[in-house]
Amino acid sequence: MKIHIIVAGIVALAVAPASAQTADVSILASTCSGCHGANADGSGGIPGLKGQQQAYIADQLKAFKGGSRPATVMNRLAKGYTDEEIAGLALHFSRLK
Ligand code: HEC
Repeated sequence: MKIHIIVAGIVALAVAPASAQTADVSILASTCSGCHGANADGSGGIPGLKGQQQAYIADQLKAFKGGSRPATVMNRLAKGYTDEEIAGLALHFSRLK
């Protein structure tokens, strides 16, 4: 079931106009860098996001959002993102090298 939701998100992204989607995701992703680091490789006790599996990142964000993964801040932050935005963010960070 989860996989279907993720795939649906990816398909939605692929269908959306490429330029608008890219801009939106990079703006959203820039808000993560304050904590996860400018290159998303983590800082202090905060885990890096760069190069993590797309499905892993999406699953973690959904787990924070739904409350099944306990957290200090991500549970609050994740609530502000739609499943489509989560899929876009997961793709963005998984592609960073
Ligand atoms: C206020 C600081 C802060 C911001 C902003 C922030 N994070 Fe986090 N993130 C954390 C912390 C701290 C953790 C560890 C879990 C916790 O305690 O909340 C974490 C954990 C994660 C994890 C789990 C990583 C793993 O290895 O399991 C993911 C995925 C994640 N964040 C994605 C994001 C994304 C995407 C954004 C931007 C939309 C973002 N975070 C913005 C602080 C932040």
